[in-house]
Amino acid sequence: MKLYIETVGCQMNELDSELVVASLRKDGYELTASPHDADTILFNTCSVRQHAEDKIYSALGRLKNAKREHPGKVIGVLGCMAQKDQGLIFKRAPYVDLIVGPGQLHQVPGLVREIRAGGGQRMEVSLNRKDGTREQIERSHESFDPLRDPAMRPTPYQAYVRIMIGCDKFCTYCIVPSVRGPEQSRPPADIVAESRQLANEGCREIILLGQTVNSYKYREGDHTWRLSDLLASLHDIEGIQRIKFVTNYPKDMTNDLLAAVRDLPKVAKYLHVPAQSGSNDVLARMKRGYTVEDYREMIARTKEWMPGVAVSSDFIVGFCGETDAEFQLTMDLVRECRFKNSFIFKYSERPGTKGAELYPDDVPDEVKRRRNHELLALQNEISEADNHAFIGREVEVLIEGPSKAAEKEAAAADAEAPSPNGPLQLTGRTHCDRIVVFEGNPRQIGHTLPIIIYDANAHTLFGEIATRHSGPELFTLSVPLQTA
Ligand code: 5AD
Ligand code: SF4
Repeated sequence: MKLYIETVGCQMNELDSELVVASLRKDGYELTASPHDADTILFNTCSVRQHAEDKIYSALGRLKNAKREHPGKVIGVLGCMAQKDQGLIFKRAPYVDLIVGPGQLHQVPGLVREIRAGGGQRMEVSLNRKDGTREQIERSHESFDPLRDPAMRPTPYQAYVRIMIGCDKFCTYCIVPSVRGPEQSRPPADIVAESRQLANEGCREIILLGQTVNSYKYREGDHTWRLSDLLASLHDIEGIQRIKFVTNYPKDMTNDLLAAVRDLPKVAKYLHVPAQSGSNDVLARMKRGYTVEDYREMIARTKEWMPGVAVSSDFIVGFCGETDAEFQLTMDLVRECRFKNSFIFKYSERPGTKGAELYPDDVPDEVKRRRNHELLALQNEISEADNHAFIGREVEVLIEGPSKAAEKEAAAADAEAPSPNGPLQLTGRTHCDRIVVFEGNPRQIGHTLPIIIYDANAHTLFGEIATRHSGPELFTLSVPLQTA
């Protein structure tokens, strides 16, 4: 049986897809790259912006005829849009068989089996945020994490590890707290055990995931575990070389966490801490819970404690009522903080959020687009200048695999796997999360090597592997040995 799965959205969704695939493999499924020869087609969806939902509804539209011709094909919609739209999906695309929210994914194999046996359409979603006590709602958002599938990971050497689910911050623009449910931290022992298993499977880098990962809190007796404690425990795992965590909430960037990042050598000197806006009035309308002054102070502290740390951010442009002057304050913040990179989004109104209820989406799309370009141009200028500063320097790179260009070339030539020893353009990341491209050897994938940088643009550093010379004394020693 063949499974085709398409994933949109964040890393949390990528991880969910990995786990769904692992559970379906146990039922005898194999992955296929084409929906045409698939017995089951799954979409793991995102609701964070309208655009992400539109993409899924049009992909579903394209399957209408396929389903008419092959009624046995099972079509399923999983994830955030499934939780948000629920039965509406059956109305818009009546040939969909399965709707499963992100908190019910453990049920997918059983539901697919029931549908195959002729059981008809199935829907499993978690409770909405107002449909029960907190405890009931929490229980309805289950996470099922132990099954892993190496083939679905970003690379065999990297893996996501979920440390918490849900979100309680309720920023007014954001749909996440309604679709992913209440914030719940996983027990540290489970996280450590899973990471140890990943290390045993050859994984070198783990990326801890949470919607607000630095809000992690787990009570055990009278001790409360925080992210800093967890990092210290994970640091001891043999085989793990690098630890990252995303996404951080600015207000929870506490000193114990900064100290852990500074003092634990395996923890990447890289922090993704979305600011969203540089205007206090906009931040207040977004209900972010901090001021620009708080954010600046946090960045200053981070850079003082860890010179060379890389910080990246997210921004929303054109949020309700955003004036030109307010937007310019965001430009000022970006200019000042010199982020490694920023993800910039045009505000997209999400029905069901406080923002949609309280404020009109009144910034014209054309203005949103202009602000998006302006902010991106500034960010690119900064990224390029800061990347240029790496030219001539040596960096430690954890090698992830062939570069995108090398992969494309191989696909275009329809080449078989590259010969295990031939030269190949490889890619990896520095300790501060910068992407490096260089010529290497497939055998080096999964290792950490020193690379000397000779060129850079806004997104990539280009380098070559630093070759170590053996000292002259060794060289002279070898002469008499050879002549002897
Ligand atoms: N419109 C646009 N961008 C959004 N984000 C979250 N909600 C919205 C929305 N309604 C952005 C935020 C967040 C990132 C994952 O997506 O910047 O950090
Ligand atoms: Fe999209 Fe948010 Fe769901 Fe991730 S958690 S898939 S970003 S809506």
